[in-house]
Amino acid sequence: MTAPLRIAVLASGRGSNLQALLDAARAGRFAADWVGVFSDRPGARASERARAAGIPAWSQSPVEYPDRAAFDTALFAAIERVQPQLIVLAGYMRILSDEHVRRWRGRMINIHPSLLPRHPGLRTHARALAAGDAEHGATVHFVTEELDGGPPIARAVVPVQDGDTPEALARRVLAREHPLLVASVAEFAAGRLALDDAGVLHDGALLASPLQLGDDDRLHRAA
Ligand code: GRF
Repeated sequence: MTAPLRIAVLASGRGSNLQALLDAARAGRFAADWVGVFSDRPGARASERARAAGIPAWSQSPVEYPDRAAFDTALFAAIERVQPQLIVLAGYMRILSDEHVRRWRGRMINIHPSLLPRHPGLRTHARALAAGDAEHGATVHFVTEELDGGPPIARAVVPVQDGDTPEALARRVLAREHPLLVASVAEFAAGRLALDDAGVLHDGALLASPLQLGDDDRLHRAA
């Protein structure tokens, strides 16, 4: 049995991805030591979920700080104190300053609701529909200084349906985000993922394309 991975989660809102991780760890999918949940929105549902699970929740509003750098300094000082081995951005809606992103390179992942590199940024579901995409989905990637542009680890593909609305598509994508993030964190906890200068290593070999979430909710090498 591998030692529990010390995991910090950053979340701004609802926290359904956080909840999926907590439930999966409780069910034995991976061994986690939840060292903290950090939020930029006091009162976020994600912080309530953390407290309900007995996990320390740090929550401060950026308006209390003079600028982005000062807020991030406070946030990352709190994160450093609990010494995570992995930071998961699970619906964290603020851009992080480059110095912290660089410091945590290879140890910080994000989940984004699109098939990156398509549709970085916001309103991804509406943009996928407007573009006439046949497929949409979600991507877990290592975080680098480029917004939603870090090397992809794994993706879940969700077909677009006739008459889809952004809300309906978002619901179906979210339902696949949860197993995608769980499987990605489990892979990291098993020591199977790393980032090097050439890209993402899976079991020590460079991934030519992201892992794919299968119907079995497991990650598979692309054919
Ligand atoms: C998810 O769609 C995630 O991909 C995006 O923000 C949303 C967060 O949802 N980055 P939740 O807070 O996990 O419910």
